[in-house]
Amino acid sequence: DKGNHRHFMAKEIHEQPEVVGHTLAYYLDMANDRVRLPKLPFDIASLKHVAISACGTAFYAGLIGKYWFERFARLPVEIDIASEFRYREAPLEPGGLAVFVSQSGETADTLASLRYAAQHGQNILSVVNVPTSTIARESHAVMPTLAGPEIGVASTKAFTCQLAVLASLAVAAGRARGTLSEVDEQRLVAALVAAPGLMAEALKLEPQIEALARNLSKAKDVLYLGRGTSYPLALEGALKLKEISYIHAEGYAAGELKHGPIALIDETMPVIVIAPYDRIFEKTASNMQEVAARGGRIILFTDAKGAEEAGVETEATFVLPDMPATITPFAYAVLIQLLAYHTAVVMGTDVDQPRNLAKSVTVE
Ligand code: F6R
Repeated sequence: DKGNHRHFMAKEIHEQPEVVGHTLAYYLDMANDRVRLPKLPFDIASLKHVAISACGTAFYAGLIGKYWFERFARLPVEIDIASEFRYREAPLEPGGLAVFVSQSGETADTLASLRYAAQHGQNILSVVNVPTSTIARESHAVMPTLAGPEIGVASTKAFTCQLAVLASLAVAAGRARGTLSEVDEQRLVAALVAAPGLMAEALKLEPQIEALARNLSKAKDVLYLGRGTSYPLALEGALKLKEISYIHAEGYAAGELKHGPIALIDETMPVIVIAPYDRIFEKTASNMQEVAARGGRIILFTDAKGAEEAGVETEATFVLPDMPATITPFAYAVLIQLLAYHTAVVMGTDVDQPRNLAKSVTVE
């Protein structure tokens, strides 16, 4: 049932404040701003290494998770696309943690990676949306995402619920390892508790995004840029756009611009910049200036301070409230999803069932 929405994808985008809230409530003690994970069959405090593996959008959630594990828990994380991990014969020290992120829990490459890690003595933890899935069954520990059934082929609410789980786990690991104090934990949990409200704020920008989608639908190629946790979001924004609107898009780390993609910049190519005002904003602002100097069309997702400090003319600027850096991926994800969705609607494509794609990829 799509409710009042034209597509399942629209419904699922709009459900996010609620389902991310449910997922957070499952892992956090919201009244006391503390993490409260279900009991895990291994000791987080003694882990030395984390390997994350997933496909597509779930891989991008894992990539954001890597930034959090490293920052909060000072745990080294390697992350691979599952189709690479399963064949590259990575040396894994026994006793490490291997994390598999999957909405369906049936993705063939992710499952094969899980089996490889299990054979090599890893603790297997999966972040899945389908608790009865094969990946869940073969894991030593399961941290479910409480997104509810996701019908649209393009993943939206599963992605932000994966972020909720990974953030909770990273904070728990930081506490267990002593890299976060109790006050740090409370500050981070309070930030996470605020995420659903900020996602609701992002949804309010929908009419403006819908207006921009008409212009974007005329583009042949679109570039997405971001730094830090906004870099995986740039990758995710480009994936969402190409899979449902069939417009070619690429996501890049903003710092890579001058190592190649800047050659593409001209008056016809929209450059979507995801840049909340943070400690590396200035770096992204100078990338925007490089784009502007070459006549590029900039579409900026930022906050009030970022809009003020960007120092460039943009085709459109979308301004979200200020928020702690930890939760920007939740709110900015909503914007990139809405942009892909409305562009696809303008193009008239089959949003919920894009050509050539299946919801669950059970063959490699
Ligand atoms: C993109 C998308 C895919 C999936 C990928 C992994 O919108 O939906 O990229 O994220 O096929 O699927 P799961 O999460 O089921 O393992």
